[in-house]
Amino acid sequence: MKPINIGLMGVGTVGGGTATVLKRNAEEISRRAGREIRLFIAANRDLAKAREAVGPDVTLVDDAMQVVQHPEVDIVVELIGGDTVAKSLVLQAIANGKHVVTANKKLLAVHGNEIFARAQEKGVMVAFEAAVAGGIPIIKALREGLSANRIEWIAGIINGTSNFILTEMREKGASFSDVLSEAQRLGYAEADPTFDVEGHDAGHKLSIMAAIAFGIPMQFDKCYLEGISKLDGRDIRYAEELGYRVKLLGLTRRTEHGIELRVHPALIPERQLIANVNGVMNAVYVKGDAIGPTLYYGAGAGALPTASAVVADIVDVTRLLTADPEHRVPHLAFQPNQLKDLPILPI
Ligand code: HSE
Repeated sequence: MKPINIGLMGVGTVGGGTATVLKRNAEEISRRAGREIRLFIAANRDLAKAREAVGPDVTLVDDAMQVVQHPEVDIVVELIGGDTVAKSLVLQAIANGKHVVTANKKLLAVHGNEIFARAQEKGVMVAFEAAVAGGIPIIKALREGLSANRIEWIAGIINGTSNFILTEMREKGASFSDVLSEAQRLGYAEADPTFDVEGHDAGHKLSIMAAIAFGIPMQFDKCYLEGISKLDGRDIRYAEELGYRVKLLGLTRRTEHGIELRVHPALIPERQLIANVNGVMNAVYVKGDAIGPTLYYGAGAGALPTASAVVADIVDVTRLLTADPEHRVPHLAFQPNQLKDLPILPI
């Protein structure tokens, strides 16, 4: 069988990690997918940096549109970020009949309804495990592992940068701005780190999870957002004296009047498991009516953990590509024509 050709757009932190994982675990990945998967072409503005990451055998271009238009590319992997250039490229990839894997939470939270509608019309898959909670397979858990349940609520630490900052401030008395610089150096923070510290990034991820869990449209614009930028060392110390840890939480809950969708700092009793989730780690509780509360824990940002989710999506899409086309889309795509119109409650 012909190999599956990957076209990678963006060879930054996560793109470089994706190239590394595809190369390092090539044998396992292809065996699990039932087909050889190869990185065929990659686009990056800085070609020298990209060459180091992808090795000598991959075609490199500086214009991502060449990836989207390439007739040999089966799966386009979008790791550029943002919702301007990335949006046009993803829509063009879909129009060209390419399947898409993306880690872009802003793109999906803001334009997901349109993107998934186009994908559904074209019969292509859009997979996005890496968009929420880094390496933790939370989308798979919501869509597959918990598919027998009515989801009641989701609550979690879903921004690694904020959790890293809060942890370092508490454990080392470090200053907010020093730790933020360190998070940027380690590749955890967004290109614009205000997205991390003002709660936007967590809001993007929460909107995506709520859409999957409750079968509602993506509604980031209605999410209540409050970040950690107004907290200082005293808040964290006083909380500790009272037996609490401060954590930035994303919470979504089904009520009889509609859906709550909110991101804000919260005081958590220090004996709770989630109070002890430190550094860049994420943790997501999901309560289902049949299973009760479940907890998912792992690295929420960083090159290789996020690449783990990107490559898992590539494997999933490859498996489904080999399956009957009529049965592909429901497995992966969020389906905008089957959604309920539950109101998001004002906070
Ligand atoms: N900036 C994000 C975070 C990256 O810190 O969680 C992973 O989505």
